[in-house]
Amino acid sequence: MHKPNLDAPVIAIDGPAGVGKGTLAHQLAADLGWGFLDSGAIYRVAALYALRHAIPLDNEEALVEAIRTLDINCQHALILLNGEDVSEAIRTEECASATSKIAALPKVREALLALQQSFQQLPGLVADGRDMGTVVFAHAPLKLFLTASAEVRAERRLKQHQAQGNQADFAQLVKDINERDYRDANRAVAPLKAADDARVIDTSTLSVAEVKALVVAMLKERGYL
Ligand code: DC
Repeated sequence: MHKPNLDAPVIAIDGPAGVGKGTLAHQLAADLGWGFLDSGAIYRVAALYALRHAIPLDNEEALVEAIRTLDINCQHALILLNGEDVSEAIRTEECASATSKIAALPKVREALLALQQSFQQLPGLVADGRDMGTVVFAHAPLKLFLTASAEVRAERRLKQHQAQGNQADFAQLVKDINERDYRDANRAVAPLKAADDARVIDTSTLSVAEVKALVVAMLKERGYL
């Protein structure tokens, strides 16, 4: 694991699932030539390992012990667990639900902190998650908090599932999203909330290109471009 380079600027992008954070963060990183951190993928890998090895999702000590042995590697969309490509395996609804449970455990979050911070490298980093602006990169010079209605987000998820040739039920997706939001927003540690200095953007009616244009304008305003 590399030591973080604290001179590298970070764009912290937080918000609930399905607000378009991933797409925005990915495209911004590509446009700027900066690194990209999908912090949710890191939590998902830990949850996948727990599911595969039948580690109870509420056994904090056992989870932390297991996490310490894992080799988690992220290169943009390619996610490796101990060398195995798990990019698709971590995207199931089962894994998402398990992830939200283990992400509520303080020691699990602590065990995954240094790995996330190691992504801060020159020329810069676009970090996508729930607590990028509040905890992991609390000193990020640019923080965004994206929002969108649960229905708009479920609609986007439905399309993603259909594009992958998977069946999904719209009402169930809305229910899952609301449940996960509730857990993420109400956990004791690093709950999902906008940092005081974050710019809140509602993406319900904005395209990715429109949000990107907003961010680029903010970066220029602050002298990063
Ligand atoms: O963004 P995602 O859907 O891949 O996130 C999966 C789960 O991980 C979700 O329940 C929120 C949690 N998570 C978190 O607690 N902190 C992060 N920085 C990223 C994700």
